[in-house]
Amino acid sequence: MEKDLQGKIALVTGAGSGIGQAVALLYAEHGATVVVNDMSEKRGNETMELLKNAEAIFLQADVSKHEEVEALINKIVAQYGRLDIACNNAGIGGEISNMADTTIEEWHKVISVNLSSVFYCMKYQLAQMERQGYGAIVNMTSVLGTVGLAGSAPYTASKHGVVGLTKNAALEYSAKGIRINAVAPGFTDTPLLRHMDEAARKHVANWHAMNRFGTSREVAELVIWLSSDKASFATGGYYPVDGGYLAK
Ligand SMILES: NC(=O)c1ccc[n+]([C@@H]2O[C@H](COP(=O)([O-])OP(=O)(O)OC[C@H]3O[C@@H](n4cnc5c(N)ncnc54)[C@H](O)[C@@H]3O)[C@@H](O)[C@H]2O)c1
Repeated sequence: MEKDLQGKIALVTGAGSGIGQAVALLYAEHGATVVVNDMSEKRGNETMELLKNAEAIFLQADVSKHEEVEALINKIVAQYGRLDIACNNAGIGGEISNMADTTIEEWHKVISVNLSSVFYCMKYQLAQMERQGYGAIVNMTSVLGTVGLAGSAPYTASKHGVVGLTKNAALEYSAKGIRINAVAPGFTDTPLLRHMDEAARKHVANWHAMNRFGTSREVAELVIWLSSDKASFATGGYYPVDGGYLAK
């Protein structure tokens, strides 16, 4: 394994499960020091157990709360003096309902966890990265960051919003040595989809040209590339890793 992230300080939000956990493990395999964030101490500790032979710390924070995000970034800088890489991954799926049946509470919940959190994270990450003159940010969006899915208005809006934030951050910060990109997975086999029964899984798998879900590791591989200096001319981009979902 190439240690192309050796010496880098890399934060992953929502790293206690699924895609975020896979990104944290792969950052460590590539030599980075990993800051594992999750709102759940239990899930964060599960990832830390998998990272027991790596350089890693767990910092609990709810990234939908701006005070907690500010404190999280401050703690990282206090401990390591900098933040080189951030994967803003934490997110929730939300309820399935048409718009007229979607509650106001559900709207605010999904927007706050999936979209406002990315603004809060980038607000404090970019300030630090600008001081350093270096950084790479990868925001987790979705194929639903560019197309809709009936029954998922808050989720679709939140993921489209992440794409907009990514583009804006790139326009404002790319000339300052910071690259910001968005990764867009198709349906990926993680606990986020645990509510689906076998029939639903088969149905949804067939929306992809490959007729299957992705794995967290397949998504993480793209995050690693975008986080590394190999992606030195990549910024402001939307990168699907979707088994051909958007080709249909
Ligand atoms: N699984 C998919 O099919 C899929 C597809 C496209 C995009 N995504 C996106 O990928 C990201 C990760 O999804 P996943 O499938 O790995 O989900 P997951 O449920 O397996 O893991 C999400 C993790 O985020 C944490 N989390 C949730 N809210 C948080 C908060 N406010 N603060 C801190 N941590 C929080 C959870 O505790 C959990 O450990 C999400 O942004 C999701 O929208 C997932």
